[in-house]
Amino acid sequence: MTAATAHAHPNIALVKYWGKRDEQLMLPQTGSLSMTLDILPTTTTVELDPDAAADEFVLGDTAAGPAATGRVVRFLDLVRERAGRPERAVVRSVNTAPTGAGMASSAAGFAALAGAASAAYGLPTDARSLSVLARRGSGSAARSVIPGLAVWHAGHDDSSSFAEPVDAPPMRLVAVSVDAPEKAVSSREGMRRTALTSPFHTAWTASASRDLEAMLDACRDGDFSRIGRIAETNALRMHAVTQAADPPIRYLRPSSIAVLDEVQSMRRAGLEAYATADAGPHVFVLARPADADAVARALAPLGEVRVAGPGPGVRVERHDERHGARQ
Ligand code: ADP
Ligand code: DP6
Ligand code: CO
Repeated sequence: MTAATAHAHPNIALVKYWGKRDEQLMLPQTGSLSMTLDILPTTTTVELDPDAAADEFVLGDTAAGPAATGRVVRFLDLVRERAGRPERAVVRSVNTAPTGAGMASSAAGFAALAGAASAAYGLPTDARSLSVLARRGSGSAARSVIPGLAVWHAGHDDSSSFAEPVDAPPMRLVAVSVDAPEKAVSSREGMRRTALTSPFHTAWTASASRDLEAMLDACRDGDFSRIGRIAETNALRMHAVTQAADPPIRYLRPSSIAVLDEVQSMRRAGLEAYATADAGPHVFVLARPADADAVARALAPLGEVRVAGPGPGVRVERHDERHGARQ
């Protein structure tokens, strides 16, 4: 029996992806940029079973529900088609980030699944191939394949839409988990509804494209302050266009706003930090490495804080169950 395991980490966007140009191919309307974290990894094992009639997906310690399983099955169908192999598989995945809460479980999850499934079915496991493939499971997963800072080029077709590394000054993201349940609207549904109903959507895509160009310049210049300002503005613009959808979608909770306020007052007091939040209530605060502990201490009363640095890209292990040996 063939099996493989892969590990991947969440990534948090500093310039966000919020809208698809092609839902089938998972092509985004705009490029985006993120930091892959060194905390909250996901580990996924794919084990082929030539005798099974259907795929199975176990997330954590229980069988996943029909929606999450359907998404994994569609992804495996694509892998099988590319590999020219018919076997069904058992997929076991463990997230250490909360699932569906704006801490990029779908990014870590599909980056790890792309790695493990490619190894198990015999597809290439180089970064470019894995980024293209992971994107088909969850757009943001294209970036979790890559270590540290990554730009995902929007591209114009399947093979041109992938992420690659970007040089940037050393930075930390202080994760502030606030007390809140799983989000009510998934990222997929949230960006679809926003594109269809938010009157600000065209303005959002135009500004996100400009933000990405400015962010790439700021990274090239190693300009932390400019990186931070662009990241915070871009995040608030994403939450603004989303709140203008019909029915409206609000991912930020009062506890998230309290963190945004505290970051603003830290800056006034001379501690330079900038806030961002993906599609969920948790807030991530960008700081220089030397300031990260002070920022974390200041935010500790507002949630559970963890200091994250740039983390590794996806790592694949191939193992042969018959011999119990890792290759
Ligand atoms: P998040 O903010 O956590 O990325 P999303 O709405 O983007 O939230 O995606 C959540 C969905 O991603 C889950 O409902 C599930 O379908 C999928 N997902 C999460 N973790 C995994 C995983 N480890 N393997 C496969 N799919 C996963
Ligand atoms: C707000 O990649 O989770 O985190 O592609 O439909 O799976 P799907 O959505 P997903 O959306 C991420 C949205 C975001 C911004 C970002 O990560 O760029
Ligand atoms: Co996601």
